Amino acid sequence: MSVQGATSPYYDPYDVDINADPYPAYARLREEAPVYHNERYDFWTLSRHEDVEKALLNWRTFSSTRSDILDIIKAGVALPPGVMMFQDPPSHTKHRGLMARVFTPRRMAELEDQVRAFCIRCLDPLVGSGGFDIITELASMMPMRVIGMLLGIPEADQIAVRDKTDANLRTKPGKPMAVREENIARGDVFSDYIEWRSKHPSDDLMTQLLEAELEDDSGVVRRLTRQEILTYTAVIAGAGNETTGRLIGWLAKVLAEHPEQRREIAQDRSLILRVIDETLRFEPTGHATARFVMEEVEYYGTTIPAGSPILLLLASANRDPRRYAAPDVYDVHRDDIQHLTFGYGLHYCLGANLARLEGRIDSFELSSELPWTNGLLERFRRDDDAACDTSPGAGDGMCDACPITSGATSDDEMFVLRGTRLELPE
Ligand code: HEM
Repeated sequence: MSVQGATSPYYDPYDVDINADPYPAYARLREEAPVYHNERYDFWTLSRHEDVEKALLNWRTFSSTRSDILDIIKAGVALPPGVMMFQDPPSHTKHRGLMARVFTPRRMAELEDQVRAFCIRCLDPLVGSGGFDIITELASMMPMRVIGMLLGIPEADQIAVRDKTDANLRTKPGKPMAVREENIARGDVFSDYIEWRSKHPSDDLMTQLLEAELEDDSGVVRRLTRQEILTYTAVIAGAGNETTGRLIGWLAKVLAEHPEQRREIAQDRSLILRVIDETLRFEPTGHATARFVMEEVEYYGTTIPAGSPILLLLASANRDPRRYAAPDVYDVHRDDIQHLTFGYGLHYCLGANLARLEGRIDSFELSSELPWTNGLLERFRRDDDAACDTSPGAGDGMCDACPITSGATSDDEMFVLRGTRLELPE
């Protein structure tokens, strides 16, 4: 049900029409109802940048312990222990500290050559083709391969592992996610690998998790249990697949729609990191994160009662004119791009550097590897006929395949040799 024309603002993260372009709804919320209650599903939202940013820091009032996904909070199911997204301090501090010790910037950087080789392997056969589906050929493959490299999952099994992990987070168009307690952060699919790794240590993350020590809530320093390792592994696989895949899809679409900036990037590769962050600000791959309100709190004269679920609208905050000049304009040159797409504060995304690395390699190779033409990239389009089974506002709603496809080609602009030479028509 879409009621954009009604007198009071309306926002519903399950509404397929609103999700097709949620930005007008966000603008109305920010201006007319910066604290908003959705009566149909009984949840609250905050939409202004300052409010969202402060709420992300204030874990005593806005707790993660009931999950950071609205549907799971509302389902009220018991959550498995050890999932750091579903924790507040002090438990979160311990689990995050352990993960940060094994999930280091150095480990991410070491993957760069492998990631690049995989990207080139995907794109090479497509050189000279009339077009391809970026989601099928690259975005749905790359994050899964990278997580597989990180964890040490054999390549032959990676697709099956991704599909099982994603299936637990899938939504149907227009509907909240059907939450099943037994499916939350369940890592069963990894148990055979963990068993095998325990007998065949390597230099991958799974081996490090097997060897890592944690001081538990009773102060005892011990190795992780197998169940905890399964949970950690499931968290990484669940958090890093779809999010990064969508970033790759949006990069292609946004660059296709901004040919001037695309040409600048092709000429000046130092802009690529800005491209990633401006794309994350402009088209975040997850639109919101949820919290549980622990104590009543007042915003703009309205009281949000204790016990309420609340959505912090990251995507709306990213387009708040109080924070960004001309927020609806895509501009890789803007100062201070800092967005909220990776969250903020104690739950700030642990995989942010890895996601940036993948995005950087993809945009570099995409803009240099193929004989792109103005026609080709500009015709990347989202296929509106295909129903997109996602509810981005709900947090981690999943999408089968946002079918961004490419159209016909012409030969007026040629990118030749990976990143080294660019030929443009006079
Ligand atoms: C474009 C890609 C990505 C986006 C937009 C993204 C977004 C986010 C956001 C918004 C949060 C905070 C959630 C909250 O506050 O409730 C988060 C947390 C997290 N992300 Fe990511 N993520 C991405 C990629 C990745 C990757 C590639 C990995 C790992 C392989 C990863 C692992 C994690 C983990 C472990 C957390 C939990 C941190 C904590 O609770 O302390 N993410 N991510």
